[in-house]
Amino acid sequence: MSDEIKKGLLGIVVDETTISQVMPDINALTYRGYAVQDLCETCKFEEVAYLVLKGDLPNSIQLNKFKKEERENRNITINLREIIKHMPKRSHPMDVVRTVVSVMGLEDKETSDNSPEANMRKAMRIFAKTPTAIAAFFRARKGKKVIPPKKELSFSENFFYMCFGKVPRKEIVKAFDVSLILYAEHSFNVSTFTARTITSSLSDIHGAITGAVASLKGPLHGGANEEVMHMLKKIKKPENAKKWILDALKKKKLIMGFGHRVYSKGDSRVPTMKKYYLKVAEILKEKKLPKMSQIIETIMIEKKNIHPNLDYPSGPTYHLMKFDTDFFTPIFVMARITGWSAHIMEQHASNKLIRPLSKYSGEKHRKVMLLNQR
Ligand code: SDX
Repeated sequence: MSDEIKKGLLGIVVDETTISQVMPDINALTYRGYAVQDLCETCKFEEVAYLVLKGDLPNSIQLNKFKKEERENRNITINLREIIKHMPKRSHPMDVVRTVVSVMGLEDKETSDNSPEANMRKAMRIFAKTPTAIAAFFRARKGKKVIPPKKELSFSENFFYMCFGKVPRKEIVKAFDVSLILYAEHSFNVSTFTARTITSSLSDIHGAITGAVASLKGPLHGGANEEVMHMLKKIKKPENAKKWILDALKKKKLIMGFGHRVYSKGDSRVPTMKKYYLKVAEILKEKKLPKMSQIIETIMIEKKNIHPNLDYPSGPTYHLMKFDTDFFTPIFVMARITGWSAHIMEQHASNKLIRPLSKYSGEKHRKVMLLNQR
């Protein structure tokens, strides 16, 4: 057995998956064999959610059944709504989401049933209810009345409706839908690997997703989309961008929304998201933000050869859509629940306890002294 340390599991292949393939050499990403860009142009998020969860694109009968099930499961319990209303208003929404998924586990009658059928039903409930809970906190912490979900609306339309009481124009909804498609799945990233690790002890899907949410919150992972916006807010205007980024690089600061463990020549999802970011900015007649984004991107590539990741264009897109900055990562959660659930089910179907080794580097052969001698 080799005792070579691979910190961060860098370059280690730990298992197989049939869910998605990241191909850094050709800057490509496929879900179940379909190019993600094609899915964005051709499908609604619900179709891609079905694909990720069930393995194939639905026909219209399958899609209608899936949509009906999702819409019928959107309501959260009065108990959960009250818990959300009573959460400290200053709580980070990701901590609220983490708690919400955990509470949904307490309320779910099938929590301890890990059969494939029960897992699919539970995945659907988590998928359908989490946006309702997120929107409830979005409004409750501002002292606004919580808006219940509306069955006539699509997944994306309904989320806007529950947050703002209205649905924006269709181009904005499409951009949001595209962001969810792009965020849905990305192989063995930190949060997905967390979910698979939790699952490998034969724990349940609510526990695994609760852990995945905690993992996604960090700024090196999903939390980066919020950090991108904090950075752009600090820079304020395009005229400040060049100086700001050059100073930051001189101070060896980490620039959020840039770099990736797997992609070195750029994130395959960025061109699509950037296109929709620019479209949204154009519709809303916003010029400053995209200008700042472009200046920073150009300098990062020129000076460091480090490319933006998906969080870089998605953060300001959500800002333009009027979502509070600390709700960007919860939106990522809404999409990634599909990927996490698929991985949890895949792990259950072919499980092996995940238990790596460590090399001990602490003190050795110490003598235990009596308490009064220490
Ligand atoms: C996501 O894995 C996935 O698939 C994740 C994800 C998904 O869909 O699930 O794609 C979502 O998590 C995207 C990543 C979001 N995070 C950020 O934007 C945070 C900023 N990025 C970096 O911290 C970093 O690039 C990581 C965390 C994303 C990747 O880290 P690695 O692979 O451990 O690489 P590293 O930190 O060791 O960096 C290697 C070098 C270092 O320089 P040297 O010490 O070798 O001189 O590149 C530099 C780093 O300092 N570098 C950066 C940088 N990213 C890397 N320098 C400045 N700014 C950056 N953003």
